Amino acid sequence: MNEKKNKTIEKLVSLCKRRGFVFPSSDIYGGFAAVYDYGPMGVELKNNLEKAWWKSMVQKRQDVVGLDSGIFMHPMTWKASGHIDGFDDPQIDCKKCKARMGADHMLEAFGIDADKMTADEINIQIEKLSKEGKDLKCINCGSKDLTKAKMFSLMVKSNLGSPTEELSDENVVYLRPETCGGIYLNYKNVLDSSRVKLPFGIAQIGKAFRNEIVARQFIFRTREFEQMELQYFLDPKDMGRKFSEWKNIRWDWYLNYGIKEENLKWYKHIKLAHYAAEAWDIEYNFEALGGFKELEGIHQRGDWDLSQHSKFSGKKLDYRDPATNTAIIPNIMETSVGLNRMLLAFLHEAYTEEEIDGESRIVLKLDKRLAPIKVAIFPLLKNKEKLVAKAKELHDMLSDNYMCEFDDNGNIGKRYRRQDEIGTPYCVTVDFDTIEKDDSVTIRDRDSMEQERIKIDNLKSYFFDKFSSQ
Ligand code: GAP
Repeated sequence: MNEKKNKTIEKLVSLCKRRGFVFPSSDIYGGFAAVYDYGPMGVELKNNLEKAWWKSMVQKRQDVVGLDSGIFMHPMTWKASGHIDGFDDPQIDCKKCKARMGADHMLEAFGIDADKMTADEINIQIEKLSKEGKDLKCINCGSKDLTKAKMFSLMVKSNLGSPTEELSDENVVYLRPETCGGIYLNYKNVLDSSRVKLPFGIAQIGKAFRNEIVARQFIFRTREFEQMELQYFLDPKDMGRKFSEWKNIRWDWYLNYGIKEENLKWYKHIKLAHYAAEAWDIEYNFEALGGFKELEGIHQRGDWDLSQHSKFSGKKLDYRDPATNTAIIPNIMETSVGLNRMLLAFLHEAYTEEEIDGESRIVLKLDKRLAPIKVAIFPLLKNKEKLVAKAKELHDMLSDNYMCEFDDNGNIGKRYRRQDEIGTPYCVTVDFDTIEKDDSVTIRDRDSMEQERIKIDNLKSYFFDKFSSQ
């Protein structure tokens, strides 16, 4: 088996569309920038990633509980959190073709890190470059006729109430830019309604929305995405120890689900977001996007969030230690990852092109627990009623426990190719011997491509062993 090493974004996008993982949004209308839809395979993979994250972060922990808060929240939430005043990116527009570009990304091309610069600071840099004869150009049409840099809010606005009212400051609401806002607003409710004691965490999975200027690179950066976040509340004296504990937990989680350690690395932020006291990213080697990029953030947020929400709401958000009866504002440590970006990382990692005996195949070597379809079931021939009926019977039997797919399209070779491309670990074929002779089926393994004959009576225990051995 000869493995080729050329992953490109075009190949991943093509596989995603061809096999029903990810579709561009509003495809029949020509698409809708930076929004994507998840097809039959994509939704399964997404669900499996969510389940795996929830299992590790909530189900297996005695100190973490779950939450599902609304996307809309009181607008004051985002005033208190600093997002209304400070969650923005500098933009430059092309006067000729009207393309909108991230000013910081444009300066990056000249080796200038403008990540935390104000619009004025960026404009000074642009003037300096221009004096050196280095003019910025539109990335779309190449024109040098550009506007000055100005700040552009990433907050997505909407309005609730009368649909005919004009959007004004009075009726504006925001679609949450991060899911953790709902956790802070429910911190007191969770404290009062459950048995949690410091240190404890609240975890949530849900949609977040950002008006990203530079929304490209497929599902890496989109305007609508899902976040999986944990907010861990603790006494500030425990921060150092717990922070490194959680960094290890999150790192190991990726290894446990099949990401190779050489494809991960840590990045420590020098410039920090307004809420953060210390921030690290787990970066993944998105080779098809040019190299290591942020996959997940792990941040110390201090007492910023609870203090701000307490100040703006007028409600006490402290924690009274039952043993000492002293009150503190807990500090917060968070882990935050985009589910869609995570899905891209796992697809990227799993995507493999192999050459076997002169024939090439594409195979997604996904961890079995994440594979969208666990078992595919085929009748050897499409038009043989008894084979089809038996295969359907096996599908019904196994789909009680596993996501299965019945397939009678094309020849067996073609069916294997399709299942390889969607990462199905096992294919079961019903043939004439199954019916006439041995009451057994052929099982083919995705990775080794080896085949074995198993009695139908033993099928349940066979798969039980295979899927519980991880
Ligand atoms: N609550 C902290 C927070 O939201 P962040 O670094 O802005 O921090 C955390 O985002 C994670 O959310 C990122 O590491 C990334 O995985 C994901 N994410 C952020 N913006 C995204 C976007 N526009 N599209 C897809 N995923 C995004």
